[in-house]
Amino acid sequence: MTASDLSDLQRRILGLKEEKGALLLAHNYQVPEIQEIADYVGDSLELCMKAMQVEDAELIVFCGVDFMAETASVLNPDKKVVIPTLSARCPMAAMLPVSVLREAKEAHPEAAVVLYVNTLAEAKAEADVVCTSANAGRIIGRLDAETVLFGPDRNLALHAARLNPGKTIIPVPADGFCYVHRSFGDGAEALELKRRHPNAELLAHPECDPEYQLKADHIFSTGQMYRHCSKSDSKAFIITTEVGMVDRLRREMSGKTFLPARGDAICEDMKRITLENTYQALEREAPVVRVPEDIAERARAPIERMLKMSR
Ligand code: 13P
Ligand code: SF4
Repeated sequence: MTASDLSDLQRRILGLKEEKGALLLAHNYQVPEIQEIADYVGDSLELCMKAMQVEDAELIVFCGVDFMAETASVLNPDKKVVIPTLSARCPMAAMLPVSVLREAKEAHPEAAVVLYVNTLAEAKAEADVVCTSANAGRIIGRLDAETVLFGPDRNLALHAARLNPGKTIIPVPADGFCYVHRSFGDGAEALELKRRHPNAELLAHPECDPEYQLKADHIFSTGQMYRHCSKSDSKAFIITTEVGMVDRLRREMSGKTFLPARGDAICEDMKRITLENTYQALEREAPVVRVPEDIAERARAPIERMLKMSR
């Protein structure tokens, strides 16, 4: 995209970002106009790694939901991390209050605690290790423990359990879920698309229902979807995740066809971030993402452990 293709507001954000030496990170589910001006667009694991490598920027503008910005802040205690709106909150992350996790730990003292990055920092502070949708199975496979408490996404827990048949994985809470991925149900729409486009590869996110995951060609995080589509010889892909991913694939791989399994699979929380509130956050350097220091310190260890284990 050239500068002349950008809107006036996009150019103003880029100008201000340069003036302040700020870094703009955006998740794959952000609206296209944010993705177009981000320094880096990626999945949760890739954004954690980028946040970790930040050296020269004192200000990070995080275009994603609460737990992602918190993770960037925990990994960069000396930097100012701002989120364009505090109302961008992942409802699944809120499904695992610390009290529920502590009860499960008391009931299973022998179990390792592996938490999805989609949790709030206060829950992460209670974990042995964090994981993302890109590495959940691998992280659990590398632990000595045979029993694992895993939260909050039940479908990701079941996916990781299939990859580790020798382990017992207990979902905490019993039915944590993402409403966007639950909307694909048993994948009827995706399978109908596959019937009409038999050569298209069917890609599913591990937050989708297990019945549907079993019918997909591949189960990938959003970053893994991106890399697979860029390398695969296939010319068409059915994408079973939030539509922002499809926007990115279409923009960056124009020679291939990307079919959203459902055009209405929209994460309303991700979409609360707009060019307008991004400009304001950059200008005012607020709202700042604040994680109390004692919680941040305890949450940092399991995130760093994940980053080491996924190398
Ligand atoms: P990814 O890490 O695969 O991008 O997933 C994040 C997320 O919130 C999925 O709903
Ligand atoms: Fe949370 Fe689902 Fe939105 Fe991902 S898509 S941020 S899991 S609500």
